[in-house]
Amino acid sequence: MTIKRAEFAISSPNWRKCPDDGRPEFAFIGRSNVGKSSLINMLTGVKGLAKTSGRPGKTQLINHFLVVSEVERANHKNGEVERANRKEDNEWYLVDLPGYGYARTSKSTREAFSSMIRDYFLHREALTNTYVLIDSRIPPQRIDLEFINFLGQNGVPLTLVFTKTDKEKQREVMGNIKLMKEALKQQWEELPPMLLTSSLTGYGRDALLDQIDTITQSLNQ
Ligand code: GTP
Ligand code: MG
Repeated sequence: MTIKRAEFAISSPNWRKCPDDGRPEFAFIGRSNVGKSSLINMLTGVKGLAKTSGRPGKTQLINHFLVVSEVERANHKNGEVERANRKEDNEWYLVDLPGYGYARTSKSTREAFSSMIRDYFLHREALTNTYVLIDSRIPPQRIDLEFINFLGQNGVPLTLVFTKTDKEKQREVMGNIKLMKEALKQQWEELPPMLLTSSLTGYGRDALLDQIDTITQSLNQ
């Protein structure tokens, strides 16, 4: 998949104010500072599209970015592959969300995942897949497990994305992923898909875009 265009569409204070044009959307969520906005910039190849910051709490609203992508598919006719490939354009949204767990003083899960975020996931019909970002440098955090389980319990499809893999030794990263799998197995029969990324090096970009392509293709059928 190639990204032909990616541009800011709208910032919304809640899910009711989000676009209602029916384009499928892919949301990025995770603790503050985990790298959600950086990943969106890396995927689209547009520097500064989503605002990033070294300080947690940068993203405060629900931000929609419109993406126009192009894929070339083999043209099948009577079971034969035709010579000329077919080009297909797709339009979809990437959604950058505020981080959860920013208010460190909050005690309950309910406070830690603001109602804005919870309601978005509970009500947003256009939501097609959720990327839950996990810092690959540290062992599983309770707030991440709680959020993943909240999505699972509510039937929201998700993929886990381990971010900042450029920062730690591969052994550490794999160890943290193993711990995450073990922790999830207490609640999940079948684990969600998992991807590794680095917004610094671009690692994991193709795998993530391929997954989005596969999902959008299945919607069009
Ligand atoms: P909030 O909007 O505050 O919730 O944060 P966020 O999850 O959007 O994080 P953001 O993309 O703003 O990145 C936070 C910090 O981590 C920035 O200083 C980024 O440069 C850095 N960062 C993000 N991704 C990576 C990565 O893959 N590798 C490295 N080395 N640094 C990263
Ligand atoms: Mg952000």
